[in-house]
Amino acid sequence: MCGIVGYVGSRPAAPILLEALKRLEYRGYDSAGMATVSRKLFVKKDRGRIADIDRRLKLAEMPGNLGVGHTRWATHGEPSRVNAHPHLDNSGKIAVVHNGIIENYFELKKFLQGHGYRFTSQTDTEVIPNLIHHFLKRSGDLEGSVRQAAKRLRGSFALAVISEEEPGKIIAVRQDSPLIIGLGEGEVFLASDIPAILQHTNRMLVLENGEMAVLTPDDVSIKKFGSGATVKREPMLVQWTAEMAEKEGYPHFTLKEIFQQPDAVRDTLRVPPEELKRLARFLLRAKRVYLIACGTSYHAALVAKYALAKLAGFPVEVVISSEFGEIGNMDEGTAVLAITQSGETADTLKAVEAARAAGARVACLTNVVGSSITRMSDLVCYTYAGPEVSVVATKTFAAQVAYLLRLAVQLAEARGRSGPRSKRLAAGLGSMPEIMRKVLVEVEPRVKSLARGFLSAEHIYLIGRGVGYPLVLEGALKIKEITYIHSEGMPAGELKHGTLALIERGTPVIAVVTPGGMRMKMVSNVEEVKARGAQVTAIADNGKDLEGHVDELISIPHTEELLSPLLFIIPLQLLAYHITVGRGQDPDRPRSLAKSVTVE
Ligand code: AGP
Repeated sequence: MCGIVGYVGSRPAAPILLEALKRLEYRGYDSAGMATVSRKLFVKKDRGRIADIDRRLKLAEMPGNLGVGHTRWATHGEPSRVNAHPHLDNSGKIAVVHNGIIENYFELKKFLQGHGYRFTSQTDTEVIPNLIHHFLKRSGDLEGSVRQAAKRLRGSFALAVISEEEPGKIIAVRQDSPLIIGLGEGEVFLASDIPAILQHTNRMLVLENGEMAVLTPDDVSIKKFGSGATVKREPMLVQWTAEMAEKEGYPHFTLKEIFQQPDAVRDTLRVPPEELKRLARFLLRAKRVYLIACGTSYHAALVAKYALAKLAGFPVEVVISSEFGEIGNMDEGTAVLAITQSGETADTLKAVEAARAAGARVACLTNVVGSSITRMSDLVCYTYAGPEVSVVATKTFAAQVAYLLRLAVQLAEARGRSGPRSKRLAAGLGSMPEIMRKVLVEVEPRVKSLARGFLSAEHIYLIGRGVGYPLVLEGALKIKEITYIHSEGMPAGELKHGTLALIERGTPVIAVVTPGGMRMKMVSNVEEVKARGAQVTAIADNGKDLEGHVDELISIPHTEELLSPLLFIIPLQLLAYHITVGRGQDPDRPRSLAKSVTVE
């Protein structure tokens, strides 16, 4: 996730772009840059935070009344000056800023190299200005060339394009990444999100998927880039405050990020199959495989353990990073997959260091390009959840699970075990973002009202079986992190081995009844705690059979068992959030916790 901005009007563009970029830093902050036009094209960009780059390069002093800017959250290519946006074509006259991922950039790069184009960065974006130039050479029509290029791009992209040869306009394009146009008096603004430009205008046009717009100081014309058909759209009046806009109208980043999960999963599912094949080969070469992680990432690793065993017959050991040094059996035959959204967790980095010292090979799965773990790993894999601001991990968990499920499908294939189940899973994964979106909207009001019943709870017990087990661990972690209520997740089968002694009249129990072979056993565990007077809230796959047997029921649409974590985690996260808000606490800033835990 990156942030892009644009301005065309009669004022100096650079200070406006700079201010807008600072307001978008929550979308990415590893590097930034701007391009303006004043007779010719000026470009400044670098690695680092925007304020530091401005101090070094004097961004605000760039000349011209038109320009574009970018704040980056790296996806392809580490944070560096050369990978920072804007990117130029080989003639140096066209500048492009891009938010999103170009899936077919490799093919396009080869095609352009065949036509003599040279590439200097490791980004997917650099193909775009060159592709535009390729068409422009033939037609001389910038708008038509942007349209031709957009038609050939696959993936997600919000683009702003400027050229020194047509200095009075910005061309904007949108597919699956947000883009907002702000209308002023004799000036027009462009941004990934409303807060970047809200101080200048509240008259906004939202560009939709498949559309492009030409922005000049007095006019905005929109058309479909596929068919070329003109689009008429009335501006809307945005009533948000700047703070509300940064959270896209959500009261907290935590809630915003819970609702961003379908996009995080969709973007992560765009990882090219070659990357998964490489990781599968890496793991298959080993005598033993460890998945190591902390906190939420550890729970994602546990989901993977079930998926890898059930789908690919591929056993792995999942170990908490801080314990790995004590029990990891490491030598040259060992492969370690370290999972960490931040890539900076000290316990995980230490474990990786120890593994490498013992001769093990290390792969990592992280959400942060260029983070410390990437420099210590033999193979680097990424989720594409975008930056997560809230201390509690939500969308990065969903992205990790989606990635690891794809890995399970890949390993099943590589081991000749890709039967109907793995085909169903592979097909089902593609529709998960839409189903997640529906579940979010459907369950939120219900969870919000159920949360009232937990406000003064002292203990909450969560039980689950199969993939429901890592989910209850994760649900309990969310609840304790932000509500400060003691919560404990456990395999439902373990109840009778001790914890059942704590269940008495009114004890809150959340039963996570996922689909699959263990479902009936789970229903029996529900009866078991009910018989001891527990107050049971069941989150159940197609829960009709539980009606009347539990106190509260949240029914989740039926899915393949291994896909269910992506849906069942939603009510658990929402419950933690709404209990926290109901208790008057701030979910975005839980006490005593940090987003990246950089101490052992
Ligand atoms: C999750 O909500 C927590 N904030 C925490 O447990 C986190 O998952 C853990 O610190 C690991 O972080 P990482 O994924 O960045 O390594």
